[in-house]
Amino acid sequence: MQFSSLFFSLVLATAVVAKGDKNSTSTGTKAVTDKSMCKEMASLNMLVKLASNETKLADKTKNNATKMAEIQAKASNASTMLTTMSSNATLMATCATIDAAAKTDDECESMKSLMKLVSLAGNDTALADKTKNNQTKIDAIKTMATKAQTKLDAMTSNTTLTTACDSLKSTKASKNGTQDAAASASAAASASSTAKAKSAASMLNASVGLISSFVLVAAGMMML
Ligand SMILES: *[C@@H]1O[C@H](CO)[C@@H](O)[C@H](O)[C@H]1NC(C)=O
Ligand SMILES: *[C@@H]1O[C@H](CO)[C@@H](O)[C@H](O)[C@H]1NC(C)=O
Ligand SMILES: *[C@@H]1O[C@H](CO)[C@@H](O)[C@H](O)[C@H]1NC(C)=O
Ligand SMILES: *[C@@H]1O[C@H](CO)[C@@H](O)[C@H](O)[C@H]1NC(C)=O
Ligand SMILES: *[C@@H]1O[C@H](CO)[C@@H](O)[C@H](O)[C@H]1NC(C)=O
Ligand SMILES: *[C@@H]1O[C@H](CO)[C@@H](O)[C@H](O)[C@H]1NC(C)=O
Ligand SMILES: *[C@@H]1O[C@H](CO)[C@@H](O)[C@H](O)[C@H]1NC(C)=O
Ligand SMILES: *[C@@H]1O[C@H](CO)[C@@H](O)[C@H](O)[C@H]1NC(C)=O
Ligand SMILES: *[C@@H]1O[C@H](CO)[C@@H](O)[C@H](O)[C@H]1NC(C)=O
Ligand SMILES: *[C@@H]1O[C@H](CO)[C@@H](O)[C@H](O)[C@H]1NC(C)=O
Repeated sequence: MQFSSLFFSLVLATAVVAKGDKNSTSTGTKAVTDKSMCKEMASLNMLVKLASNETKLADKTKNNATKMAEIQAKASNASTMLTTMSSNATLMATCATIDAAAKTDDECESMKSLMKLVSLAGNDTALADKTKNNQTKIDAIKTMATKAQTKLDAMTSNTTLTTACDSLKSTKASKNGTQDAAASASAAASASSTAKAKSAASMLNASVGLISSFVLVAAGMMML
């Protein structure tokens, strides 16, 4: 629950930050502006969705009526802004492209996490080291790694995905220094799946008391 309130503050913070973000990037190109608009739309959407769910709202605000009213007022404004933005077909098309790229990026990162988990489970030295020789943890990691391998096999068999990941990798390597733009777009569009993986991961962390974040994120993905 700690996580969800942190996430919630992030959503609000993002909704505010995204607006002032337009020329704060070093490149300041049109692409970056579009990205920040898409990012803003994503956070506005989250805000509207939150405000429309009484249960969730009460939960997140710990039933504080003042906070609930504040959020609903912000959401009402957000809703109007969204309507205006959504009517721009050019922007919507751009956002769809950015979202698709971010999704792919997210999937590539997931593959990396899954591979690390599988590799950890196959290395007894590393396993003993990371778990401080705790057999319960070792077993848990091995069980998760088996599932990770299955998921990885499915992803690897998708050549569209693997090709995209390869080209993304070389793009990132060659454009070293400008990766932050891509990263922030990805953060916006993939907020939901990554957040879900992390949220699942923190549940797992709490119950099993696992170790490194990549194990947790990989594990969280499998709980989706
Ligand atoms: C944004 O651009 C305006 C006009 O070019 C400039 O005055 C302002 O300082 C910029 N803001 C940031 C945060 O870079
Ligand atoms: C509202 O939020 C609750 C708890 O976060 C969730 O279980 C439920 O599915 C949501 N309802 C809708 C209609 O999205
Ligand atoms: C409810 O939220 C408001 C605004 O954030 C805050 O000032 C107030 O102290 C909160 N009330 C309670 C009972 O926590
Ligand atoms: C929404 O909030 C912004 C900034 O606070 C304000 O400029 C705008 O007029 C508001 N829009 C509506 C529809 O309330
Ligand atoms: C629609 O969005 C595009 C891309 O962000 C922008 O260049 C254009 O000015 C917008 N058009 C309107 C009418 O706001
Ligand atoms: C196993 O992990 C250890 C310690 O993390 C590392 O030094 C070693 O190179 C790894 N072995 C293999 C085969 O990857
Ligand atoms: C393969 O990956 C691409 C890119 O992520 C995706 O659009 C497509 O749906 C995937 N195909 C299958 C069969 O899962
Ligand atoms: C980017 O460059 C820095 C230093 O030049 C290097 O340490 C880093 O690993 C590079 N990152 C990528 C993704 O290539
Ligand atoms: C091993 O890990 C499990 C799960 O995190 C924990 O409950 C248990 O206390 C640990 N055992 C030892 C000896 O530390
Ligand atoms: C996992 O739990 C430990 C101990 O509660 C905590 O220190 C660590 O930050 C958690 N890691 C993640 C990724 O949530």
